[in-house]
Amino acid sequence: MIRIAVPKERAAREARVALVPESVAKLVKSGATVSVERDAGLAAGFTDANYVTAGATIAADLAAVLTDATLVCKVQPPSVSEVAALPAAATLICYLAQAGSAETITALAGRKVNALALEKVPRITRAQSMDVLSSQATVSGYKAVLIGATALPKMLPMLTTAAGTLAPAKIFVIGAGVAGLQAIATAKRLGGIVSGFDVRPAAQEQIASLGGTPLKIDLGHSAEGSGGYAKEQAEDDAIKTQHAIAKHVEQVDLIITTAAIPGRKAPLLITEDAIKGMKPGSVIIDLACETGGNAAFTKPGETVVAHDVSIIGPLNLPSQASFHASQMLSRNFLTLITHLTKDNALVLDASDEITGAMLVALDGQVRA
Ligand SMILES: NC(=O)c1ccc[n+]([C@@H]2O[C@H](COP(=O)([O-])OP(=O)(O)OC[C@H]3O[C@@H](n4cnc5c(N)ncnc54)[C@H](O)[C@@H]3O)[C@@H](O)[C@H]2O)c1
Repeated sequence: MIRIAVPKERAAREARVALVPESVAKLVKSGATVSVERDAGLAAGFTDANYVTAGATIAADLAAVLTDATLVCKVQPPSVSEVAALPAAATLICYLAQAGSAETITALAGRKVNALALEKVPRITRAQSMDVLSSQATVSGYKAVLIGATALPKMLPMLTTAAGTLAPAKIFVIGAGVAGLQAIATAKRLGGIVSGFDVRPAAQEQIASLGGTPLKIDLGHSAEGSGGYAKEQAEDDAIKTQHAIAKHVEQVDLIITTAAIPGRKAPLLITEDAIKGMKPGSVIIDLACETGGNAAFTKPGETVVAHDVSIIGPLNLPSQASFHASQMLSRNFLTLITHLTKDNALVLDASDEITGAMLVALDGQVRA
């Protein structure tokens, strides 16, 4: 039988929970037991009573929730004390591929805890329902627009009032992946005039289908790499792109930028010159802030004002819509756990395309 533990998240700025009551009920029905640490779901809007109704038991503290667990479901990587409290031979699933995670993975392997990194789910159709990067990027794209709309000294929609007609704000979204497309849809719903840019030619149609106008930068060739992902631009292409963006943003009020290349530093797309050319009071929300930023001046977790433009680098936006972010995360966990379960037991088959890609520690060994 699988004994699942859901500890309370202790990291700063983390309001999500790994499993919500809806998924707990399904896991209990399938034969697992689920123990939830007291108040683990409270910051996301789920009470202990909700978990009990779903069939979970409530544990008083970290030690109690982890006792006897065979599977520990968490959001953030475990702290040193959490690692020390994990039972040997248990399996841990959480975010584990961030900068600084290597030490934690070594410590987990040292305690013979098996570990799967949520971010390493392969981006293949079969694994789409387990893909936390996509589910959480949806929240980030949505929230980025709301933060930008609040910071802007303008309203987004066109308004016809007795005091005159107000022009709609112009929003430009760079990087039309999961977060970017959600940002385009959200900005459009709020009544802004939206444009978007991505180096992948396929993205142009997706930008247009959401009511955005694709910014076309003719480089004479495609920047699409393998598996539909973007590849890093050559230096002269990058410079041409920066110039085209600089010209476009002279008329823009709010930029949401999300451009990323898997495993690489984020490309610099909005240079200081581009920022100098923007209207005073304009706002940039840089969702790539944790991997180096797409804009000059970006600082993770800070708002920098340069040349009268606010450059905001928000951290952990999914946590700011913790109810729905947890709900999606929990559904990702549920399909992943189902994938790992055979005859009511966890099976960590490193030769499986999904399991093998996510396993970072197995049987006391760190896996590259
Ligand atoms: N399970 C799946 O099959 C699955 C899941 C999620 C995403 N995807 C696909 O993966 C691709 C990337 O999506 P993502 O949300 O992970 O993206 P991401 O978060 O890795 O990057 C965001 C976007 O930035 C773009 N970008 C990179 N360099 C850029 C530059 N210099 N200028 C402008 N834009 C730039 C990328 O093309 C991407 O669209 C998309 O094709 C998406 O449909 C597939």
